[in-house]
Amino acid sequence: MRKPFVVANWKMHKNVAESVAFINQIKDQLPAKEEVEVGIAGTTLALHAMAAAADQTDIQIVAQNAFTEFEGAYTGEISPKALADSGVDYVLLGHIERRTMFNENNTMVNKKVVATLQAGMTPIICTDETMMQEEHGGSIHYVFAQLKDVLCDVSFDQIKNIIISYEPSWAVGAGQFANPLLAEEGCRQIRQTIADRYSYEVADKIRILYGGSVNPDNIAELMSKRDIDGVLIGRASLDADNFVSMVKTVQ
Ligand code: G3H
Repeated sequence: MRKPFVVANWKMHKNVAESVAFINQIKDQLPAKEEVEVGIAGTTLALHAMAAAADQTDIQIVAQNAFTEFEGAYTGEISPKALADSGVDYVLLGHIERRTMFNENNTMVNKKVVATLQAGMTPIICTDETMMQEEHGGSIHYVFAQLKDVLCDVSFDQIKNIIISYEPSWAVGAGQFANPLLAEEGCRQIRQTIADRYSYEVADKIRILYGGSVNPDNIAELMSKRDIDGVLIGRASLDADNFVSMVKTVQ
């Protein structure tokens, strides 16, 4: 069984005090860790304090980015080793906002995935798709070219320690309804991509999240889908009560 995973991505919201206060507010309201795993991706400056606040809880601390190297002359970059030392468990990599605003490409994301694994953390790889009409039948066929490139150096053993998040660009931050059938189909085809590249056994175990306009009204239906193992929530995760109610929906 794949344990559900609900991840808040706060993007560039909340200062250190607000981030810690959020954790203190929700920590006693969450379901048991056996039911659902909960992660919070705060801003880099807040992660250390968030990890301290989340100590003795089951809340996982998630970074929103990490560099390809552990140390060196890389002004302004975020060392994966420093993140791990600060109590970070997971790292979001390849988010569409990193790709479109900061020119991250597949090669760079691939190196970040490898460095994150080497630092002992788990990458959450965000991926979009290219939609293609199948020549016969007219149904939609997704091509996960990004994912294939990003995983090019990732071994059979390493893939077991990776989470993938399907984030279609048409749904991220759009505020439009996240169609559960399209979301499920994307996640199913990602699982097939993993099965083709690695094995069915690995594909069956890997967790695949969906991200893009998830909110309290659509989370239950999204999570009822067989191939959606969790969600990556942006705007709707910023309010603590909202977030707790969404996590409880997944229970
Ligand atoms: O990482 C989260 C995604 O970018 C989705 O953001 O829920 O605000 O659409 P959103």
